[in-house]
Amino acid sequence: LVLVLCLSAAEDFDWSANNHDSFYYGTFPNGFSWGAGSSAYQTEGAWDKDGKGLSIWDVFTHKKGKTFLNDTGDSSCEGYYKFKDDISLIKEMNLNHYRFSISWPRIMPTGIRSDHVNEKGVKYYSALIDELLEHNITPIVTLYHWDLPQVLQEKYGGWQNISMINYFNDFANLCFERYGDRVKYWITFNNPWSVAVEGYETGEHAPGLKLRGTGAYRAAHHIIKAHAKVWHTYDTQWRNKQRGMVGISLSGDWGEPVDITNQKDIEAAERYVQFYLGWFATPIFHGDYPQVMKDFIGKKSAQQGLGTSRLPTFSSQEKSYIKGTSDFLGVGHFTTRYITQKNYPFNRGSTYFSDRDVAELVDPRWPDPGSEWLYSVPWGFRRLLNFIKTQYGNPMIFITENGVSEKMMCTELCDDWRIQYYKGYINEMLKAIRDGVNVKGYTAWSLLDKFEWDEGYSERFGLYYVDFRSKNKPRYPKASVQFYKRIIKSNGFPN
Ligand code: NOJ
Repeated sequence: LVLVLCLSAAEDFDWSANNHDSFYYGTFPNGFSWGAGSSAYQTEGAWDKDGKGLSIWDVFTHKKGKTFLNDTGDSSCEGYYKFKDDISLIKEMNLNHYRFSISWPRIMPTGIRSDHVNEKGVKYYSALIDELLEHNITPIVTLYHWDLPQVLQEKYGGWQNISMINYFNDFANLCFERYGDRVKYWITFNNPWSVAVEGYETGEHAPGLKLRGTGAYRAAHHIIKAHAKVWHTYDTQWRNKQRGMVGISLSGDWGEPVDITNQKDIEAAERYVQFYLGWFATPIFHGDYPQVMKDFIGKKSAQQGLGTSRLPTFSSQEKSYIKGTSDFLGVGHFTTRYITQKNYPFNRGSTYFSDRDVAELVDPRWPDPGSEWLYSVPWGFRRLLNFIKTQYGNPMIFITENGVSEKMMCTELCDDWRIQYYKGYINEMLKAIRDGVNVKGYTAWSLLDKFEWDEGYSERFGLYYVDFRSKNKPRYPKASVQFYKRIIKSNGFPN
């Protein structure tokens, strides 16, 4: 969770100078792809069924005090059993694509291919893919949405260990082998920022480690190399036959300088974005970490009396191996912060956050959000997309996640707040496309209410409401389903 500072600085500032609202009527380019998403651990349930191995999330959530009300994903939406029903919901909305993830331990229980491949698990995803294709829905498949096999964590320390690169590559290779005839869009990692920072620095997420100052950087370093390796595997062994694409999905909230006339604020906002999306995008598009990360972490490490920077380095060979390893960029975007230079001591007790040296603020006039952290700030989306266009040479972009969690208004199905959010964000994405940003598709996050990591079931992101109290987890459309359907049908906002 991002802690939000509403400091006196927020009161002193003239917020009305930042007025970005205006609605744009128009439609999306022909062939623009509309979809919705989910991930394995968040929706499947069946955590110990049909030969599945344990993931770090199974183990983490079974420990007390790790999630809201000790919620687990043991059964969640029972998506494992209900995938045909869910595909009819997708069909009902006329979506062009569906994004889901493959649980690594479901198809390789220990994470190691030579140990055992669980054919029942392999079959499950095969049936899911077939069912989607039968209904003309394109599968977009994520290989790693956080559920690392527990054995790899226990034996090797998970992403702290360089051996994960080869294990992950073996897993990806099996997926290309078994599904690549039918799957043409692959995402290696989902939101590696969270994996690195929340998994290995703050410990809010599985595996819950607090390796302060080094854990996140080391995990990220191995993840970036693993991503590059999998891209090369596809490129050299599968691309000719399968003709698909391999990308990565990065999360990036936007950081806007509090005062755009203040150089220090401008630099702080730049650091906020570079330590977030830029941490992963810069190596993948340019071959190395952002200069500002190298400078700041280097400087802090020296102040701590360390001989070398806590940020690992890539050799020149590695740089050229990593550079250019994304056929498209997946972007997960939820919210925006105002950023100012850090001039008071606040780092959430984490070395990573103090390395960045920024303070986050929210405009007190932003509407009260549905969740503690997720403020609706549509214009930040357009800025982020334009930033990606200029920084990384206008890559092909798929929005892999965008959405908002529940604010309890009227009834649980009357989600006017979500409708306003989607309307604003989709409209800003349309403006970004008019600016020349190469966005090819949009994935509403998420199809269903589901297990929201450390927040348990307390945050509902779904277009469909799930009654978790009933045994068979019935789904009910929220009002936003009709709204999203209308946008899809008219391909935007015709005049
Ligand atoms: C990003 C994560 O990838 C996703 O799993 C999660 O549901 C959303 N953030 C919302 O917090």
